[in-house]
Amino acid sequence: MNTDKILQLKKKIDLNRIPKHVAIIMDGNGRWAKERFLPRTSGHQEGVKRVVDIVEVATKLNIKYLSLYAFSTENWKRPKNEIESLMKLLVQYLREKLDKIYKNNIKIQTMGDLSKLPIIVRKEVEKAIKKTINNSGMVLNIALNYGGRDEIICGIKKILEDVRLGKLKEEDIDGEMFSNYLYTQNMPDPDLLIRPSGELRLSNFMLYQVAYTEFWFSDVYWPDFKEEHLYEAIIDYQKRKRRFGGI
Ligand code: FPP
Repeated sequence: MNTDKILQLKKKIDLNRIPKHVAIIMDGNGRWAKERFLPRTSGHQEGVKRVVDIVEVATKLNIKYLSLYAFSTENWKRPKNEIESLMKLLVQYLREKLDKIYKNNIKIQTMGDLSKLPIIVRKEVEKAIKKTINNSGMVLNIALNYGGRDEIICGIKKILEDVRLGKLKEEDIDGEMFSNYLYTQNMPDPDLLIRPSGELRLSNFMLYQVAYTEFWFSDVYWPDFKEEHLYEAIIDYQKRKRRFGGI
């Protein structure tokens, strides 16, 4: 798409109705690489470049929360070299971009069980969280060793424990309160969920939080996902009527 068309598209966005929380399932890195006779890891490398671009565009659009699915609880089933490469890319991303992230007032958060990640990844992630903790701009929420079912089960266990300790009464448990037992406790639910690469499923992502989220699917692979695709998703989102179960 040429620059003029991108600008035209951007102008169609109603800046007063930007989705507060956008979540993205970054998919299609492997297929992107395969089509180019490249190793899957090259797809992930290109995928990181799109992370950098989209974080910048999202910040400029004043999106308040951006959640990115970087590594799921199921991704451990992948070949060892692919897992290692993904971990390395994450470390590299944080090392290279943390200063810029900090200067852009972005706050890094994560969701998922970090304890199972290699120590080097954990250290870099913890450093990024600590450095950006007082930033007040966009929250960049990275899902790492994350699974929606795991998150819900974990939440149930914590609730049971609090009931057992007398901190919580069973009759006080409701949907809103349960949200406080999830990784996203300090965030609103996603308004818009984007999944590129042509797959039409959730893949265990934010299962509880997407109850009333608007979904936007696209056939482009994540390494080809450009600012115009984010604009298209937002324009489409802004055309929808959200009723949250009402009429
Ligand atoms: C899915 O594509 C993508 C992943 C499992 C990894 C996503 C990770 C990144 C883009 C890089 C690291 C992230 C950050 C935040 C720096 P796939 O491999 O399943 O693609 P396929 O379905 O075509 O095989």
